[in-house]
Amino acid sequence: MKAPSRPQDKIIIALDVPDTDSALRLIDALGEAPALCKIGLELFTSQGPSVVKAVQSRGSRVFLDLKFHDIPNTVAHAVKSAARLGVAMTTLHASGGPVMLEAAAKAAEGSDLLLLAVTVLTSMDSAQLGSTGISVEPKDQVLRLATLAFSAGIVGIVCSPLEVTTIRGSLGNNLRIVTPGVRPTWAAAGDQKRVMTPAEAVQAGSDWLVIGRPITAAQSPKEAYAKVVAELI
Ligand code: C5P
Repeated sequence: MKAPSRPQDKIIIALDVPDTDSALRLIDALGEAPALCKIGLELFTSQGPSVVKAVQSRGSRVFLDLKFHDIPNTVAHAVKSAARLGVAMTTLHASGGPVMLEAAAKAAEGSDLLLLAVTVLTSMDSAQLGSTGISVEPKDQVLRLATLAFSAGIVGIVCSPLEVTTIRGSLGNNLRIVTPGVRPTWAAAGDQKRVMTPAEAVQAGSDWLVIGRPITAAQSPKEAYAKVVAELI
């Protein structure tokens, strides 16, 4: 999947809602269907593949964020199922190891599906990581896992805006980068602590930005969406 050049194609709207009706209402409130919408564990677990089809039929492509982490054979089959659903992107944990990552990359071959590796969840600090037996700093583990995934043939990654420069610098321009945790200056940070503005994140090297509440919880989602697009021009 090529990195987008039009500003509106760089934005992925996070559909953090419990059911299909709410998801479609959100898309309709944007005025035009976004290029990409993210469907995560909550929405997919409650509605299943039908919500993916419903969002696609509104005209958006889907980023299915299910963070696969299982034995290589199971993950490979899950990747094939995602490709059959026609989603544009899906995620898997780089900590699943090289054999799992290679099996996933092979399963995606011949499809348009972009696989995105997740490294260390931003909810993990050094103490949390240490309690799982990993005694290096989170930022070092992020780079280690990003490199591992890229070498295994996973060409995309999800990372915090503050990690983009290091990861891009180390792995180069063939890597596709998706970053959540961006906040326009005019939006509340909410529970996002380490943030950048959308323009800063793109400048740092992000290809796509996952944006939820600054747009979805705005008084006018349509205006907020247009404002973010304008900031990226
Ligand atoms: O509402 P907000 O813009 O914070 O939504 C961002 C989306 O990206 C949510 O779906 C959230 O779960 C996801 N995400 C995140 N931070 C991460 C990983 C994922 O905000 N580190």
